[in-house]
Parts: sequence; C-alpha cells; structure tokens
Amino acid sequence: MAELFEFESRPVVIGECYSPENDATVYLGDRLELLKQLPDGSAALVVTSPPYNIGKSYERTIALDDYVSSQAETIRECVRTLAEDGSLCWQVGNHIAKDSEVVPLDMVLYPICKSLGLKMRNRIVWHFEHGLHCTKRFSGRYETIIWFTKSDNYYFDLDPVRVPQKYPGKREYKGPNVGQLSGNPLGKNPSDVWILPNVKNNHVEKTIHPCQFPVELIERLVLSMTRPGGLVVDPYMGVGSALCAALRHGRRGAGADLVPEYVAATRERITAAFDGTLKTRPLGKPVYVPGPNCKVAKNHWETAADEAGDKSESQESTLF
Ligand SMILES: C[S@@+](CC[C@H](N)C(=O)[O-])C[C@H]1O[C@@H](n2cnc3c(N)ncnc32)[C@H](O)[C@@H]1O
Repeated sequence: MAELFEFESRPVVIGECYSPENDATVYLGDRLELLKQLPDGSAALVVTSPPYNIGKSYERTIALDDYVSSQAETIRECVRTLAEDGSLCWQVGNHIAKDSEVVPLDMVLYPICKSLGLKMRNRIVWHFEHGLHCTKRFSGRYETIIWFTKSDNYYFDLDPVRVPQKYPGKREYKGPNVGQLSGNPLGKNPSDVWILPNVKNNHVEKTIHPCQFPVELIERLVLSMTRPGGLVVDPYMGVGSALCAALRHGRRGAGADLVPEYVAATRERITAAFDGTLKTRPLGKPVYVPGPNCKVAKNHWETAADEAGDKSESQESTLF
C-alpha cells in the first residue's frame, strides 16, 4: 500500500479558474464551463459521480433522454481533456424511473463511451452495507465504476494499491519454484469487487453533502492510474473528495459544482488534504471486525464457513 505523500509546508494554491500552476482548481459553476478551460490532453484521470437524475436535493429531474444527452456532452468534453495514456472512471448506480423501473446507468452510458473511442478496462463493483431499505425489490447495496482508457497505451501501476495476501507466507510445495513464496510479497490485486463503507452519518469523512465519495475509493484510482503531479478532474465534484484524494498523493486537482456551499466545503477539505490534516478512513482498514462478545456475527461467519465446507476460512474471514 502506498505511503502518503510527504506533505508540503507551503500553502496550497487554489484557483477559481484553471491554471497549470494551481494545486487545485475549484470552479463554482457548470461542469462544461470548467472543462472548456482545460487544454487538450491535460488530464491524467477524470473521475466522477454524476447526478443520477433521481431527484436529489442538488438536481432537477429531467426526461431520461435529456439526461443521457447531457451526460454525453460531459463525457465528450472529458475525453478531449484526457491524455493519450489517461483514464476515465464514471461511478454510477441506478436511475429509478417514475414507474419504479430500475435503469442501470452504467449500461446506459457504456455506448456513449464506446462511441467516443474509449475502451473499457474494468467494471468495478463497489459494495457497501448502508442504504435505503426497499420493500418491492431487494435493497441496492452496490454501485459500479466503469473504467475506460483513451488508448491501449494507458498508465496503470498495480503495486501502490495491492492488498494483503490471504496467506502471505504460503510457499510452492512442488514444481520448479518449490519453497518460494507463491504470492506476490507486495500483496495481491484488489480485484474488481471493492468492499468499502459508503459515507453515512457516523463516517469520519461525513460533510453536508448527501452522497459524497469515500476518499479511499478514489485513492485507489489515483494511485494506480496517475503519476505524481498528474491532473485529476472531477466535473461534478460535490465536496471535492476526488480532489482531496489527488492532493493527498501529490497530484493536482480540478473540479466544478453548482452549489456554493459544496464549493466552500471543497476549499476547506482540500486545504486540509494538502497539509495532511484531513480526517479520512485509512486506506486498507478492514471493513468489519466483530468483537469477542459479538455472538451474532460469530455465528453468522461460522455458519457461512461451514456451509462453504471450509472451517479454516472462518477464522480468516472475520477480517474481511
Ligand atoms: C453525486 S454528487 C458528487 C459528489 C462527489 N463525488 C463528492 O464526493 O462530494 C453530484 C454533484 O454534481 C453537482 N452538479 C449537478 N449538476 C452539475 C453541473 N451541471 N455542473 C457541475 N456540477 C453539477 C451536484 O451539485 C452534486 O454535488
């Protein structure tokens, strides 16, 4: 797991309009107005979670076709700003239509990305435990991040985001490598299913925003898809979690939002991210560790492991 960037003692440079000299550009206004300020090929990573057109406090519900057209406009402009070896990550859930029909937004947006020449590298499933309790369908407990690159020659470094091996000391017991470690000592690939808590009321990162990214979700993308100094762009930045992830690791950031309170919160958060005082849930922290008196959880794990026919896994899996 990557070490945090060595924080600088100088004050952070935050601009209201884009300049390559800014550590962060925090634009109050529409995403296209910000994107048009960015030169062709300037962004190493565009990562965002757009409005889902579901009537949240910060959005006006519009016809699905109009929503898709406006997303296409945003994505087209993002692709222009993207470096040849850059990545675009769109984090989405479902749009719920008036008749309660579920419309998975990644399916709707995939053809737009393809038509702009992007190539998909992963469809990452982000699983979390907290959300609405549905009565007429199963409660939604995952969203996706669709990751595209502009070319085949894209930047990707797995090492800073490896996670601990399940059996770190395990060695080959036969064949030409007998006695050698069977897994990578730096850790294993985190896979395309990420289990990270979403930001609800008791989360250390909670702000005034109703649906902010956990910073660690974006840190994985920043660390694996950008080099130090690279520009990370979030066209729908909310309270700036993506910019915080960028600044915590020596990258630059640029984002836009229409809501002045979110922009003000972003400025505060990135100032703290830059000087190392922003409180975040640490990268790699286990999701859930039942205490010794937690009988329900213990029984749950043991039952699950018994059903899987592997008693030894039950001890491991309490650490998820
Ligand atoms: C899902 S939230 C993003 C939250 C963000 N990921 C975070 O961690 O705080 C979507 C954001 O898009 C903003 N937004 C909606 N329409 C916009 C537009 N046309 N231009 C810029 N931002 C917009 C909303 O105000 C909202 O904060």
